Order: sequence, then structure tokens, then C-alpha cells
Amino acid sequence: MSTDAIVLLKDEHKQIRKAFRKFEKAGANAHKTQGKAVDRIIELLTVHTYIENEIMYPAVRDLVPELEDDVLESYEEHHVADVLVMELAAMKPGDERFVAKTTVLIENVEHHIAEEEDEWFPQVRKALGRKQLREIGDRMVEARKKAPTRPSEPGALRKTVKAIVD
Ligand SMILES: [Fe+2]
Ligand SMILES: [Fe+2]
Repeated sequence: MSTDAIVLLKDEHKQIRKAFRKFEKAGANAHKTQGKAVDRIIELLTVHTYIENEIMYPAVRDLVPELEDDVLESYEEHHVADVLVMELAAMKPGDERFVAKTTVLIENVEHHIAEEEDEWFPQVRKALGRKQLREIGDRMVEARKKAPTRPSEPGALRKTVKAIVD
């Protein structure tokens, strides 16, 4: 089984996109279907963000310093997605902003995934050999075992989120 880091992350991207399409296909009043789709999106994004933030991004920063700006931008994009995910996790389907917030989350993440896949992952592959990518992949598989599946709320953000959601 291949544990190439980029193959692994792209596979997760595929699952994330699939969950997005499920949400979009649910009818506007299908609250139950929408809620289920959003639960799945939250779970997939929480795990994916964890392994990228904990393993992939630090490894790239360390091994491919010329991609530093891309990694920093990615951390910021993850941060924006984290805020939306935390807010969504506190909402119910049918809430006035539930669909709008999910739509904005999807737009943001699609953009972010496209940048990873089209712009800088190919450069990572070029810079690192197959062996190094497999080593990073192995560490990701390990990290995934202890990855959170629901967003945590760091104290600093909790207040902001409450203010926006309430
Ligand atoms: Fe990412
Ligand atoms: Fe990603």
C-alpha cells in the first residue's frame, strides 16, 4: 500500500470534494441530509487539517524552504476554514446562515485544495524523492490515528465564535 504523502493527501481531497457535492445535491429544505453532509465535511476537514498542520506543512517548511510562503499562506487558509468549521459545528441545519456558511466554507476549501494540488504539491514532489514522501506519508498515517474529528475551540477563538454565532 502506498503511503506517499501527496497521494494520501490527494485521496483525502477527493473524499472532501465528494462530501461537498453531497451537500450541494441535498434539496434546500432537506435539513436532515444537509446536516449529515455537514457533519461529514467537518469530520473530514478536521482530520485533514490536523495531519497537514502537524506533519506535511512543517516537513515542507523544513525540507523545501523555497515553498515557505506557500506554506504560510496555507496555514492562514486553514485558519479561515477552522473558524467557519467551528461556527458550523455550533449551528443547526435550518439556521438562517447554515447554508451560506457551508457554501463559503466549500468555496474557500476548493480554492485552497486547487492551490495545493496545482501549484505547490507538484513542487514538493519535484524537490523530495519518493523515499522522503513515503516517510512523511508514514508519519501521517500514524498522526491520523490520534487526529481529532471535531473542532476544538481554543480559548482565544471561543469568544469570537460565540459573538458571531449567538
Ligand atoms: Fe491544506
Ligand atoms: Fe489539503
